[in-house]
Amino acid sequence: MLTKPLFTEVPHVPQDIVSTYQVERQISEKICAPLEIEDYGLQAMNDASPAKWHLGHVTWFCETFLLKSMSEGYSPVNPVYEYLFNSYYDGVGPQWTRAYRAHLSSPTVAEVYDFSTMVDRGMLDLVEETGPEGLPFLGALVTMGLNHEQQHQELLVTDIKYNLSVNSMRPAYHDTEIPESSSWAPLKWLPFEGVVVWTGHDRQGFAFDNEWPRHQTFVAPFKLAFRLTTNGEFIEFIDVGGYDRSDLWLSEGWKTAKKEGWGVPYTGSVWTGSGGFRRCRA
Ligand SMILES: [Fe+2]
Repeated sequence: MLTKPLFTEVPHVPQDIVSTYQVERQISEKICAPLEIEDYGLQAMNDASPAKWHLGHVTWFCETFLLKSMSEGYSPVNPVYEYLFNSYYDGVGPQWTRAYRAHLSSPTVAEVYDFSTMVDRGMLDLVEETGPEGLPFLGALVTMGLNHEQQHQELLVTDIKYNLSVNSMRPAYHDTEIPESSSWAPLKWLPFEGVVVWTGHDRQGFAFDNEWPRHQTFVAPFKLAFRLTTNGEFIEFIDVGGYDRSDLWLSEGWKTAKKEGWGVPYTGSVWTGSGGFRRCRA
């Protein structure tokens, strides 16, 4: 049991802890909804994780830092999950090697979803059992858990797309219409003067500790394009030999591009040339 808050101040307490928790947890499942069962276990490089692992890990996080810390006498759903789904948190215990997450055929996808259901049930019980005096602290912990969940939702999308990208069958994450090229205003660069600015979180609402402390910093004069780069401009860059012209690169990027043998945008095997990125599952 935690005996004192992790925070020096409680920055934000969700008005309705239960619905906030449920909505955020369901988003992780919705991200995985388009996947086939085989897709859940893919880990196409060491830095990517299988979707199944992400789902197990975010549930483990809620179990470890919410249920185990707040619910007296709580027993983990499966003690082995504490090892398999721990990540980076050395203070919590040993952990399964990151590069080998795809080696885990067990627990199955169904078992990971069961784990999630059991922990969510435990969370509802915990909220019900917590008296009014404990709710602000519980709310702060839930907020931390859900911010962690959101980080993994971004990783889920990134990793799913990468894991599917290395397959010559060109499986799509989901069906979407790719618009035909449209006309864009010519690129313009907007100048900005150098200035001293405040940066860092102002401690109003949740933030991770690496977003503090708030401090001033000098921003040198710069120019920023007034719109995003288009795929057409990327193709133009390739067609004019952009990957072979050192004058178009900063030195570190140029060195990396040569060392890694880059000849197309860093989308690895999904780049299909001027035909674009169109892919389909069948
Ligand atoms: Fe995490």
